[in-house]
Amino acid sequence: MVQVPQSTFVLPVFYLPAIPILRMLFLSLLCIIIIGGHQVQCLNNGLALTPPMGWMHWQRYRCVVDCKAYPDDCIREELFREIADEIVNNGFKDAGYEYVIIDDCWASKERDNNSRLQPDPKRFPSGIKALADYMHGKGLKLGIYADYGTKTCAGYPGSIEFLELDAQTFADWEVDYLKLDGCYSDILTMELGYSLMSRYLNQTGRPIVYSCSWPAYQEPIGIHPNYEKMSEVCNLWRNWDDIDDSWSNVTNILKWFSDNQDRIANYAGPGHWNDPDMLIIGNFGLSYEQAKAQLAIWAILAAPLIMSVDLKNIDPKFRDLLLNKDVIAIDQDPLGIQGRLVMTRGNIDWWTRPITPVIQNETSYAVGILSKRVDGYPHRVNFKLSDLGLKNPSGYKVQNIYESSIEAEMLKPNDTLLIRVKPSSVVLLKATILDEQI
Ligand SMILES: *[C@@H]1O[C@H](CO)[C@@H](O)[C@H](O)[C@H]1NC(C)=O
Ligand SMILES: *[C@@H]1O[C@H](CO)[C@@H](O)[C@H](O)[C@H]1NC(C)=O
Ligand SMILES: *[C@@H]1O[C@H](CO)[C@@H](O)[C@H](O)[C@H]1NC(C)=O
Ligand SMILES: *[C@@H]1O[C@H](CO)[C@@H](O)[C@H](O)[C@H]1NC(C)=O
Ligand SMILES: *[C@@H]1O[C@H](CO)[C@@H](O)[C@H](O)[C@H]1NC(C)=O
Repeated sequence: MVQVPQSTFVLPVFYLPAIPILRMLFLSLLCIIIIGGHQVQCLNNGLALTPPMGWMHWQRYRCVVDCKAYPDDCIREELFREIADEIVNNGFKDAGYEYVIIDDCWASKERDNNSRLQPDPKRFPSGIKALADYMHGKGLKLGIYADYGTKTCAGYPGSIEFLELDAQTFADWEVDYLKLDGCYSDILTMELGYSLMSRYLNQTGRPIVYSCSWPAYQEPIGIHPNYEKMSEVCNLWRNWDDIDDSWSNVTNILKWFSDNQDRIANYAGPGHWNDPDMLIIGNFGLSYEQAKAQLAIWAILAAPLIMSVDLKNIDPKFRDLLLNKDVIAIDQDPLGIQGRLVMTRGNIDWWTRPITPVIQNETSYAVGILSKRVDGYPHRVNFKLSDLGLKNPSGYKVQNIYESSIEAEMLKPNDTLLIRVKPSSVVLLKATILDEQI
């Protein structure tokens, strides 16, 4: 059956074109008119002023639904409550991790008799509203997953004919974050469709972080999505392929981000972020050094920090890494400027990100030196800050974030800096701008 989106204002339903895509076009034009002829500004929800931080089940838990065989791993309400408890009890909440996000495979295979999505009754017997209440009671927020197409990627009910109804359902459940995936959909209609969903979320009156997946479907088939529009209607968007549990996945994603940085980086800022996908730290595929590298470069990219790991059994070393407040502070820097790859030498990449504090026109910087080398010793490299475009004449106080025992150095732009970087690891520096007087 076809759900006709009810426009809550202006026009009676029967004026709306019956074909969904025309209806979308029509409604998205209304959006412009109503806001008064400015750019389409459906999203102004005041959320995600720094990159969202939280936890999402997909990378670690996928679509395990057999709770008899896999009681510790299956997607059910207990998992999310337990993860919330870990987030609160082990310092993650204090470190800034806030959103507990349900990914695919939460829903019943059928909508209810009013066409509303409903959770699987065996795995979520208390319902999603109760889970949202649980999160809110702990000072956390709940995220949920839906799909812009006819089915979710794992085959659960899609939202294409029910966008408005689903937005209202999520708001009624007091959900705080929506990831809208794009399987089984007409990729060419995504700009319109995702924008329309943004407006439906807005109309519910509930502030809901909106995570879009539209570039992740358009970029791989060679379409350059409209990032300008995206940054107006989405709080974050998945640009590229899904991350799996391996170092090569991390380096592939970084290669895509650097290859395309001139096209995408400027669209990141407070309220709207490029999303290179989840942190895989603490799982099976990354060594500790590689995990440090993922966190460091994600922070330089102003990426959402969404963990996907068994927080009940995480190795304390990885837990402490995820709690590293200096790296998190770089990620959450209030300027919200996405960093870039600025230099490559001998399979070592230098990434920089302008951060606070700022003196007059000069910012401080985070500098990530990422080694993709495999010659098993800490490789020696020297460089000057001026090689990276850091040129404040009074210089910088340079701290090694992961090696706090190394004393900070005061360096002028042309001073030579000598470091050693381990294979498939990172050195993360913070270069704090110095005043003339110092
Ligand atoms: C909806 O959009 C308007 C206009 O941009 C904005 O002022 C308002 O805060 C938004 N409301 C929500 C709940 O996102
Ligand atoms: C939904 O409708 C079906 C078929 O009409 C009916 O058998 C079922 O009891 C209804 N379920 C609920 C929850 O009302
Ligand atoms: C991750 O690795 C898998 C297996 O090699 C591959 O299929 C997938 O495309 C990779 N994704 C990225 C983003 O590199
Ligand atoms: C630097 O800041 C000063 C004072 O705020 C301003 O007059 C000047 O135009 C700025 N220069 C650049 C290059 O932005
Ligand atoms: C730094 O070195 C460059 C090139 O060697 C030179 O042009 C520049 O004047 C030097 N800057 C300072 C502050 O010494």
